[in-house]
Amino acid sequence: MPLRFDILTTFPEMFSSDPPSAMGWSIPARARSAGVVEWYAHDLRRFSESKHLKTDDRPFGGGPGMVMTCQPLWDGVEAVEAMDARPAQRVLLTPQGRRLTQQTVEALSRSARVLLIAGHYEGIDERVIRALDPMEVSIGDYVLSGGELAAMVLMDAVIRLLPGALGDEGSAQADSFSVVEAGGERRRLLDCPHYTRPRVWRGMEVPEVLINGDHAKVAKWRLEQMLSRTRERRPDLLEGGGL
Ligand code: 6GU
Repeated sequence: MPLRFDILTTFPEMFSSDPPSAMGWSIPARARSAGVVEWYAHDLRRFSESKHLKTDDRPFGGGPGMVMTCQPLWDGVEAVEAMDARPAQRVLLTPQGRRLTQQTVEALSRSARVLLIAGHYEGIDERVIRALDPMEVSIGDYVLSGGELAAMVLMDAVIRLLPGALGDEGSAQADSFSVVEAGGERRRLLDCPHYTRPRVWRGMEVPEVLINGDHAKVAKWRLEQMLSRTRERRPDLLEGGGL
């Protein structure tokens, strides 16, 4: 069975396949053609019971901007969940959520169904968030105009982990943030540097160890590079008890 994503959004065209959106290329597109994943974007307005199919209203207490109303979101989640018998992991994309990590991405890649709710406007009525009780996810400490791009980021990160999504099965394992055994501890490290031809470019040479063909030495060098890069660029990944 393919992993099924549903996206509830006021901008479903952002997920269009024709013409292709950001999701219509590279690994996500290939994985979809291969039957590894499927996704369906649903227009939140379709579930609105208001006369002008509104999905937002002015905030109680005043202030600028609009707030997404409870009814279309609640009914939309119920209707979309009923489209497939498998229970869905509910995820709300919001800058107020827990920061997305590779660990969460890996956990989501093991689920059968994920329902992504893309927030917009100034916010969402707190009561429908409490009632839906979704996993609240942010993709970083900056503000996007809406949750759609964040939903695509999450989908891309999850899809590339699905069995059969990558041409070369090994390459997800060697990525930055994948778990490696280093000095007896399992840690998430940054990737090592990579080189290809030519051997000399603008006077800069490819490290000798990569050219000699000693696989054990290459493996040792790569692990050392991963550790030194991580120490230099992301010391936070080495603190604490690993993973
Ligand atoms: Cl998930 N949504 C929005 N609107 N902004 C964000 C975000 C999500 N993550 C970081 N910034």
